[in-house]
Amino acid sequence: MRDAGLASEIRGLAKQRNAVILAHNYQRPEVQDVADFVGDSLGLSRQAAGTGADVIVFAGVHFMAETAAILAPDKLVVMPEARAGCPMADMITAVKLAAWRSEWPGVPVVTYVNSSASVKAASDVCCTSANAVEVVRSLDVPRVLFAPDRNLASWVASQLPEVDVVAWNGFCPTHDRVSAEAVMEAQREHPSAETLVHPECRPEVVALADRVLSTSQMLRRAAESEADEFVIVTEEGLLHALRKAAPRKRFHTLARTMTCPNMKLTTLEKVRDCVEALEPRVTVPADVRERALAAVERMVAIG
Ligand code: 13P
Ligand code: SF4
Repeated sequence: MRDAGLASEIRGLAKQRNAVILAHNYQRPEVQDVADFVGDSLGLSRQAAGTGADVIVFAGVHFMAETAAILAPDKLVVMPEARAGCPMADMITAVKLAAWRSEWPGVPVVTYVNSSASVKAASDVCCTSANAVEVVRSLDVPRVLFAPDRNLASWVASQLPEVDVVAWNGFCPTHDRVSAEAVMEAQREHPSAETLVHPECRPEVVALADRVLSTSQMLRRAAESEADEFVIVTEEGLLHALRKAAPRKRFHTLARTMTCPNMKLTTLEKVRDCVEALEPRVTVPADVRERALAAVERMVAIG
């Protein structure tokens, strides 16, 4: 009841301010439900780039709102919870990337969208979990530097054996802590389930997958697959979206361990306050934005 009242207040404020509310698939169910668009990093970036709204309210983590600010400089980008960061994004800085790059002259840098704007600005091209393999393939080079996710790098390398993927040693704490044993146990409990795994998981977990997919790709697969049961190896927030995408199917997660605390910092109350005050704002300095834009635009165009 309380949520319904808040949600209608938010919708009314969003209309008054000509704001679009974008929410990541890991957000709390009630935050997903109030959004105009719920998606993965690639889908949300595309929405930000193409919106006709004046304001983008980003319910996600900081790098996602920054990416929106890079792609839509004439829009006001606000975030309900400015402290919502991504620990993996913090595992590399522009200074560290530049030093790494100088050890590998001439080798292009591919950066996962889970990174700061200044790291993106120091990269050649960005990618998301939905198009990392395609982005690296499109470069048509024998070697790339890949930052910051070592697990996504390993997945890309397994799909493109002709490319030497040199990985930065970053990882997502939520996905990297999943063990192969935990996934095998879920598979034993649900033998007819299809296993969908996010590529931020370790290689030994990815090896147990029927499909390795981004969050929105998992939603599409769950709806299209002939299977009616799934073991889902990604952050538990996706369950809400999965149940909406395929209401008659059953989903088993490793929910006890798979929560991203930063994604849960955004609440419906904070969304209301943010749409009302149009604060806190997320900005990217013009020089950083200019250098990051080409890398991010290439990402949005591929896959
Ligand atoms: P997706 O782009 O697959 O939604 O993943 C984003 C993310 O942060 C995964 O941890
Ligand atoms: Fe970052 Fe992992 Fe949270 Fe995604 S799930 S935002 S990669 S910490």
